Amino acid sequence: MTYREQIRKDRIPRHIAIIMDGNGRWAKARGKERFFGHQNGVLAVDKITVACVELGVEYLTLYAFSTENWNRPTAEVDFLMDLMSEAIKKYIEKACKNNVRLLVIGDMSRLTDKSRNNLNEAMRLTEKNDGLKLVIALSYSSRWEIVDAVKKIAEKAKSGELDPSQIDEDLVSNHLTTAGIPDPDLMIRTSGEYRISNFLMWQLSYSELYFTETLWPDFDEEELSKAIVDYQKRERRFGKTSEQISK
Ligand code: FPP
Repeated sequence: MTYREQIRKDRIPRHIAIIMDGNGRWAKARGKERFFGHQNGVLAVDKITVACVELGVEYLTLYAFSTENWNRPTAEVDFLMDLMSEAIKKYIEKACKNNVRLLVIGDMSRLTDKSRNNLNEAMRLTEKNDGLKLVIALSYSSRWEIVDAVKKIAEKAKSGELDPSQIDEDLVSNHLTTAGIPDPDLMIRTSGEYRISNFLMWQLSYSELYFTETLWPDFDEEELSKAIVDYQKRERRFGKTSEQISK
């Protein structure tokens, strides 16, 4: 029986977040440049998005480019930015066909005008789609996001718009880039690295974590299904006892 066939339809994770890692090693293993790995990484994005649409996942968040990735060699940064903004531009038609809404989270101010315009256009043209929400984390890091939220909250406190006593978890959540998006149920990281790497640190507080040795370009529908089957075997307690959960 395939993993796809083992998935229980009544417990599909509502929100899956993925750290797509291993493009460079995938290319190197084939005697190719890192760029080749990223190109194949885009193909994997396409496959996994289709699989999530078919499974009825509501949110898929992909860590495409971190704040720290700006420190890579300029040629790779430029290539990745161009690759992603062109891939997203080309994807708009397919997104509409599959009722996918594109959202981007991250520090858009660091992108080139061309990339930013492409992404804004993609968000605008898909904003009425109410199927899968595909959230691309681009120029994103959790610490950047939290600092940004703290600044916004401090400004409001300074101007008298809110009193510090009103600051609670909901208020902080609502100032993050993911405001309105439920926290991930399942976080997957490919390529055998066991780190969160500054990704959704607030939002992943109670997510189930799944790590696989598979490199991102090889991550396909069956690999995703395997992760979901594993997730479905877990008991999510949110700090409670097992007995409380089974009541
Ligand atoms: C990590 O592999 C991958 C990245 C930094 C880029 C991920 C981007 C894509 C897969 C393209 C996304 C496209 C869209 C449309 C969202 P790595 O380069 O760190 O690999 P390594 O660890 O083997 O060196």
